[in-house]
Amino acid sequence: MPHIITKKHNAIETPSFKDGVFFDFIAHSSKEDKICVRIEDKTFLLTKLEKNGNHLIKLDVTTKVAPILLAKKALHAYVALSGCEVISSNIAIHSTRLEPQKEYLKDISYFVNDFSTTKDICVEVGFGSGRHLLYQAKANKDKIYIGLEIHTPSIEQVLKQVRIDNIENIFVVNYDARLFLEFMASNSISQIFVHFPVPWDKKPHRRVMSKEFIDESLRVLKIDGSLELRTDSPLYYEYSKELYEGYSEKSTILKNQNLEVSSKYEDRWKRMGKDIWDLTIYADKQSPAITLDKDFSFNIENKLLFNELQALLPKKPIVEDDFMVHFTYSFEIAPKSGLIHISMGSFNKPFCVYLMVENEKVSYFVSTPVPTSANHKAHKLIEKIVKNGELQ
Ligand SMILES: C[S@@+](CC[C@H](N)C(=O)[O-])C[C@H]1O[C@@H](n2cnc3c(N)ncnc32)[C@H](O)[C@@H]1O
Repeated sequence: MPHIITKKHNAIETPSFKDGVFFDFIAHSSKEDKICVRIEDKTFLLTKLEKNGNHLIKLDVTTKVAPILLAKKALHAYVALSGCEVISSNIAIHSTRLEPQKEYLKDISYFVNDFSTTKDICVEVGFGSGRHLLYQAKANKDKIYIGLEIHTPSIEQVLKQVRIDNIENIFVVNYDARLFLEFMASNSISQIFVHFPVPWDKKPHRRVMSKEFIDESLRVLKIDGSLELRTDSPLYYEYSKELYEGYSEKSTILKNQNLEVSSKYEDRWKRMGKDIWDLTIYADKQSPAITLDKDFSFNIENKLLFNELQALLPKKPIVEDDFMVHFTYSFEIAPKSGLIHISMGSFNKPFCVYLMVENEKVSYFVSTPVPTSANHKAHKLIEKIVKNGELQ
């Protein structure tokens, strides 16, 4: 993650502009500041905090929608604007290095709002080094491959390879695969690959495979479409076998099959003489279409101002049966306005977002929650809480 460590220095003036970067405002808390940055068509936050007598300035994780290169440019502009003394950093911009193919890196909103194709769609969950994803995309140019991964270096690596190999049928998404399928149309996908997922033997609730994931997979798969798990973990194998047995759909189990392409992990397990299982389940029904409710606006009258609201917010997470809301931190911009960091939605996979409270207006900042049912329920509760007097 791009960051700089600098000698302690005073806050920059806002709003200001330097080297193509707008610095719109600073929001303060007792622990850290959030500096709002606009560059090209992206808005995001930088976090500034004190560390070992110096200042650490880094990209804010919740607004991490911007490509790393833009974050580096913003940090360079920050240094030029503030005149601060840099002690160390990792923001060198290597113009000679091959830039990853960013046009194939898609934000989740692309799949919620804009995505449509007549081509066959295949999804790979947790593609890691990307060997299998790249191989499939090259071998099947008439299909679209959506690669889901949460590990940023793997994403950068695969995007570079996409450029080197001139591949045009891959979309890479930095997103939790357990949430992604909720946005895909029913009966739209041909294959879902889950190859060597993290076993999570001690925390099975964190696994990608679950009853919910299989249900969603069978909904989005076309008839005869398949969900293909490949694993070397005996516990994951047993667990998934049991899950599949709960379905009337056809499923198959194969042991120690060689695929046309072998992943980095697979090579390692094979050298160790480990068994590898393929568990595949096939969709056999047409599933009803879904409509996504994307309205996350606030319809509130008589709202509290930021400083009043801040005092009123529940300190502990509110955990209901099927959703949660946690007002984690707040940052004051001026007495009447500020940002509130919220963790919301599903308890196992919470969605993090900022709420902007500005005089009479309340809205989500930078991005709106993705339209899951848990996020909608959480949103309704947030709306109630920010309504004047609702908590009294
Ligand atoms: C053990 S590696 C396997 C990588 C690759 N499939 C292979 O066979 O070499 C598991 C990968 O899944 C990714 N991953 C774990 N949980 C995920 C999730 N919920 N959504 C998307 N990717 C995930 C990890 O970052 C990691 O790269």
